[in-house]
Amino acid sequence: MTAIDKKALIEERVNTGLLGQWYPVAKSVEIRSDKPYGARLMDQKLVLWRRADGSINCIEDFCPHRGAPLSYGEIHEGNIGCRYHGVIVDGEGVVVRVPAMPECALEGRKALKSFHVTEHSDAVFVYVPSLAQPEPPALVMPPELTGDAWTGFLCTSVWECNYRYALDNLADPMHGCYLHSESFTLAYGSKQDLMKLDKTDTGFHVSRVAQLGDNFDWSEFAVHPANMYCFLDIPYPPAAGPGGNMRIVGFCTPIDATTCKVFFWRLRKVEGIARESWRFLYRAQLEANHWHVLEQDRVMLEGMPDDARKREMLYQHDLGVSRIRQILTRAAKEQIESELAQVAAE
Ligand code: FES
Ligand SMILES: [Fe+2]
Repeated sequence: MTAIDKKALIEERVNTGLLGQWYPVAKSVEIRSDKPYGARLMDQKLVLWRRADGSINCIEDFCPHRGAPLSYGEIHEGNIGCRYHGVIVDGEGVVVRVPAMPECALEGRKALKSFHVTEHSDAVFVYVPSLAQPEPPALVMPPELTGDAWTGFLCTSVWECNYRYALDNLADPMHGCYLHSESFTLAYGSKQDLMKLDKTDTGFHVSRVAQLGDNFDWSEFAVHPANMYCFLDIPYPPAAGPGGNMRIVGFCTPIDATTCKVFFWRLRKVEGIARESWRFLYRAQLEANHWHVLEQDRVMLEGMPDDARKREMLYQHDLGVSRIRQILTRAAKEQIESELAQVAAE
């Protein structure tokens, strides 16, 4: 293997998505016990459904008989039945029954990959194993989603761009005062600045040098052994009701080379009556504003060519963008090297 081949493999891994990660794939309410849910993750089709105890099965969305999507099928006593010719598969991917053919040899065979699933804060996470981490390390969520102090809403959206664009966008606070300049909350502050980058215990913090709290002025990435997320603040004018800034916690899930799914929790630190009134105000009025802002990001990123990075000319403000790419590339390099070492040892 040449150095060029290895570099291409690393680039490919970054583009497809790192292995050894928990990725959110759906909202909790979307996964039911009476109906399968088809999801896509890193170029793989998955099917998810709930067991009687409320936990979730996730296997490949591929019927062992001839490949029909199991997600088109039905749930029978906790197993999934293929719509095409009725083959029944359990949550481990084992063929339970072939109703059309008595004593068929397929019965009892483990035919499909199954995946670990966990739920947190109204989202369903699937673990994609790596060579170094075949079993899932713990999913680490931010304090805003593990304690009681914050309240909020999860919103998800599918964007027709590689997940790296969504991450780059989060690592780039300077776009707030331009792209979102006509929005309710992001119309303030100076349009000129420098950026700075600080290391944190788990990742990095990128911020504007000359202003803090006027616009989307900083973001921070937390990188854990098996998941990564970003958080940032959107300043709120007093007209937006009680509580301070709105905090956003974001995850970006790679779907395929040109599609991703974003998961954004929109949170405020409000209690008691103020909490209820903010939740009401959010649903009644603010949510539409936020969707509008998020649509501006989506339209911009979808408009960029898939290989924009081959021609881009970064400048000082792209410190965060460079850092997130470096983190992904380093992790991909480690994964590819351990896979190549295993192949060489065989
Ligand atoms: S393809 Fe599923 S039962 Fe035939
Ligand atoms: Fe944005």
